[in-house]
Amino acid sequence: MKIIQSISALRENLKKLENIFLIPTMGNLHEGHLSLIKEAKKISKNIVLTIFINPIQFSSGNDLENYPRTLKQDINLLKDIGVVILFTPSTSDIFPTKINLSYKMPIISNELCGKTRTGHFKGVITVIDRLFDLIKPSYAIFGKKDYQQLHLIKKFVFDSKLPIKIIGAPIIRNKNKLALSSRNNLLNDKDINNAVGLYKNLKKCAESVMNGVKIYDAELIAKKELIEEGWEIDYLEIRRQTDLKKPSDMDSELVVLGAGFFAKVRLIDNIEFCIPSTI
Ligand code: PAJ
Repeated sequence: MKIIQSISALRENLKKLENIFLIPTMGNLHEGHLSLIKEAKKISKNIVLTIFINPIQFSSGNDLENYPRTLKQDINLLKDIGVVILFTPSTSDIFPTKINLSYKMPIISNELCGKTRTGHFKGVITVIDRLFDLIKPSYAIFGKKDYQQLHLIKKFVFDSKLPIKIIGAPIIRNKNKLALSSRNNLLNDKDINNAVGLYKNLKKCAESVMNGVKIYDAELIAKKELIEEGWEIDYLEIRRQTDLKKPSDMDSELVVLGAGFFAKVRLIDNIEFCIPSTI
């Protein structure tokens, strides 16, 4: 694995590669990130993984400052597992001038996570656009853990007619089913055990809708339960898988998404499910 910081060295090393498979990350790598490498290896051997803590996708300076920076540990995890280039640029390399994204962000970027995290997804798309432009991958992979992010990146690629195949990877969970996240490190052992309540209530919510409970009622019950468990809920909603819009009675491919604060740490999760056909 070559570790590259500068854009000139990146360009030089990319020359020899075709069918590039890009895995963008912000570091503090865990099994969730490593699963993306396993998926990528099925398609290409030319894997470029980036670690860049993107300042413009954080809403508060505090959140950005507290983001775990564990480059040495990350490099150790990446040794000999098939990454060809690890690109760790500086902020001035990625954003040398004031950036102005020409892409018009879809309305859905202001809903769900985008409702409270103003400008977050614009920040994500801006950095992804820059990484795509620098690396020119044929493939890029993103986890379904960040379901809305994956949706918006797919839409951005489609709307911009970019020749990049975007792959969505399953959510990796710990043995209790808590979705792996860099933010889990901010929880103590007791809170980590209880934080799985989000997953459990999303699952119950999906199951009750599959059993005929009205969406609104199922969402309400799950939210009530989570509040009783000590969560400060940001949102808990059932949406359509295809476009994340609110579902009608005709829709059967759904996803229940939730976000909230547990022990002051913001966590997100989601579960895809289908309403069985009645015909
Ligand atoms: P980061 O949070 O580091 O995540 C990098 C990638 O790992 C994302 O595609 C995310 O969905 C995936 N991922 C994280 N936890 C996962 C889990 N438990 N199971 C499966 N995949 C998981 O997401 C970002 O960085 C940034 O927004 C980024 C896309 C890099 C843009 O800055």
